[in-house]
Amino acid sequence: KKLIIINGPNLNLLGVREPEIYGDLSFTDFLNLLQKKYSHVDLQYFQSNIEGEIIDKLHEVGFSYDGVILNAAAYTHTSVGIGDAVKGIKTPVVEVHISNTFSREAFRHTSYISPNAKGVIIGFGMQSYELAIESFLK
Ligand code: DQA
Repeated sequence: KKLIIINGPNLNLLGVREPEIYGDLSFTDFLNLLQKKYSHVDLQYFQSNIEGEIIDKLHEVGFSYDGVILNAAAYTHTSVGIGDAVKGIKTPVVEVHISNTFSREAFRHTSYISPNAKGVIIGFGMQSYELAIESFLK
């Protein structure tokens, strides 16, 4: 299986940024653990702080990969463009969030991704990514 994790803005700061919400593990350390655990899976990774780059990446992988695990971070709540890209591609997208966005500010309660996602995994910390991978391996 060929899967990709796509992380949106500020997630390059994981481990440093608001550790009380997002934990103290950097994403590259976490990715190393994931790639070891899922060594039988082709697990790619992309992060960008730029909306259009996330859209370009969805177009690039969205007709050949088996699955996209997308944490669009703050763009989840603002980006019609990323929502449309998720709708426009063939590869199923699982939306993930580290924190439980519903227990946070009201502006985090809406998502432009969810209506077109295969499923949504919210609030399990970094384990949200693992649960998303598992969902593609069933
Ligand atoms: C997040 C939740 C978003 O509301 C926030 O803007 C993020 C991270 C999460 O994974 O919990 O940057 O997507």
